Order: sequence, then structure tokens, then C-alpha cells
Amino acid sequence: MKVLVTGGCGYIGSATARYLRAQGVDVQVIDDLSEGHRQAWDGPLEVLDLLDRDALHSYLKGKTFDGVIHFAARCYVGESVEQPVRYWRANVVPVIHLCEALEGVPFVISSTCATYGEPQTEYLSETHSQNPVNPYGATKFADEMLLKARSEAGQGKCALLRYFNAAGASECGDYGEAHDPETHLIPLAVEAALGSGRTLTVFGTDWPTPDGTCIRDYIHIDDLAQAHFQALQWMAAGKDSGAWNLGTGNGFSVREILDAVEKATGKPVPHDEGPRRAGDPARLIADSRKARAELGWKPKYENAQAVVDTAVRWHLAHPDGYQS
Ligand SMILES: NC(=O)c1ccc[n+]([C@@H]2O[C@H](COP(=O)([O-])OP(=O)(O)OC[C@H]3O[C@@H](n4cnc5c(N)ncnc54)[C@H](O)[C@@H]3O)[C@@H](O)[C@H]2O)c1
Repeated sequence: MKVLVTGGCGYIGSATARYLRAQGVDVQVIDDLSEGHRQAWDGPLEVLDLLDRDALHSYLKGKTFDGVIHFAARCYVGESVEQPVRYWRANVVPVIHLCEALEGVPFVISSTCATYGEPQTEYLSETHSQNPVNPYGATKFADEMLLKARSEAGQGKCALLRYFNAAGASECGDYGEAHDPETHLIPLAVEAALGSGRTLTVFGTDWPTPDGTCIRDYIHIDDLAQAHFQALQWMAAGKDSGAWNLGTGNGFSVREILDAVEKATGKPVPHDEGPRRAGDPARLIADSRKARAELGWKPKYENAQAVVDTAVRWHLAHPDGYQS
């Protein structure tokens, strides 16, 4: 199998590219290194901006792939509210460029639980209504609609993978999360505990949850990688396009994550308490039975402590991310 991976020098893309290679897949990565790291992926890399249609099409001319996995995107919800036009361009135009050049090629896309908007049920299944409440979620929903229409027109199947909170690092600590700026809870808490000097803010302690803090579903990047491989196999076996939630189905509160970080590092997490952030749902937990039943997906990391332990190993080995 030969697979094109866009954004393969980023956090989840590099974990997936490595996982695919370990399964014997021939992996070609495209990344413009705007957010990613050259050190995150040591295989074939084309440094290219997917917004540059001519460069992308001339690179892909004459090449054949059995699948494309598209990770490259801008991923900050707050930034998307401030810069909606930039987000629509960055997250939708590359999908159009790829579809134009790769007619018929099965397409796996990184989608998100942010396409659901405000949860109407305790566990979110794939049939939950999709009403994104910020431009980031809206751009991902637009990508999904485009890929569904392409599939219905017989121009290539699609697997829409809706991740919950991606987290963790490799078992051996050689790849992990290195975003700048970092906005995700686990790396911020680990960095604060290990002495970054930055104090973490807990947004809201009066949510209708047992300890008053928000509850999220943390899914390990190697478990996400496994699902991408299985989605490619699903489509290669001639099965239908579809959407699958990728989360463990277990929710952990912000306080529980801070406790897990304190346990893993042996140090307190310096933090203060701030007001709720607008648009943050109290709970976001996946119903991922569909991915387990159909794709045969079996996440290895079902509890937050195991995920946090890997993140701590990565941060200890790489205090300055890929620079160290
Ligand atoms: N991290 C999460 O919790 C999470 C949750 C749900 C969905 N997602 C989605 O998963 C995907 C990967 O997320 P991540 O956390 O690994 O992000 P990331 O920023 O670490 O990786 C994205 C990669 O894409 C590259 N890229 C961006 N724009 C590009 C362009 N125009 N041309 C070429 N390369 C480009 C960046 O350089 C980077 O290496 C994104 O699509 C994101 O929306 C992430």
C-alpha cells in the first residue's frame, strides 16, 4: 500500500506516518513545516504548501497512491474565531486541491468532535446533529460535506474520523506533542509541573460536573494512528464511506488530569482558577462503538493516567520539544 500523508510532520500525522510504516505501508509525507517539525518524521518528505495548487498538482502528476490521509490544517479554536477567513482558506482549500489531483483515491480526513457543537446527549454518537459553534468546527464540517459529495459522485471513498482530545506520546518517548503556542491541557500541565514557569489556568470550576471542571475524552495518538490504518483497510476492502468517532468513551475532568500529572511527575501542578470560556461544553465524551465494531478498532490506552504517563516521559526526554 502506498499512502500520501499530509501534515505528517505534525503531532498526530507523524505518529500515524510512523505507525503506517511499521505496518509495511509505503508512506510519502507532504508538510510545509509551518507548525510541524522536520525531526518528527524521518521518512520521505515533500516540503510544500497545500494552498499552492500549481506546486501540489505538479508534484502529484504521474504519482499513484492507494490512499491519502489529510492531517494538515490549522487547529486553534480561539484563533479561528478571530481569523475566520484564514481558517476557511487553510482548512478547506487544501481538500479541494487534493481532490482535484487525486480523483478516485480513498480519502481519510482528520475531523473532530467540534463538528457536533453543543452536545445534546451524554455520549456523542456519529448520528448526533452537526451544528459547529466555531469556525474551526465549521471548516471541518465543510470538509466532511465535500468528501461525502465526492464519494456519492463515485469519485473516491472517504473515511471521516472525528477525534476527541488527542493526547499522549510514544511509549519510548521519542515523539510527542510540541505545539507553539501550546493550548492543550496535558502538555501545559506537564510543563507547568516540570517548571516551565507558566501557571496553568483552569477555565471554570462551577460546571455541572462532579468536581465542577470540564470533562473530556482523551485519546492516545497511537490509538488514533491504528484507526487510520484500519480506515484505509476498510475502504480497500470495498466497504462504504463512513464517519467514525475516535475517543475512548471515558471522560476525565480537568482536576483528574491535574491529579494524574502530579502522580506521574511527583510534583504539584501550579495553577489558578479562571472563569468559564465561552463555547466550552461541560462534557465531551465519545460513543465510539461504531469504530470498534466496524473497523475492529481497539484503543490500547483506556484511562487518562496511562496517557499522561507517556506525555510525561516525552517532556522529560525533550524539555524543548524536538529542539532537544
Ligand atoms: N490535536 C487534537 O486534539 C485534534 C483533535 C481533533 C482533530 N484534530 C485534527 O487533527 C489534525 C492534526 O492535528 P495536530 O494536532 O497533529 O496538528 P499539528 O499542527 O501538529 O499538525 C498539522 C501539520 O500540518 C502542517 N500544515 C498545516 N497547513 C499546511 C499546509 N497548507 N500545507 C502543508 N502542510 C501544512 C503543519 O506544518 C503541521 O505539521 C488537524 O487536522 C486537526 O484539526 C486534532
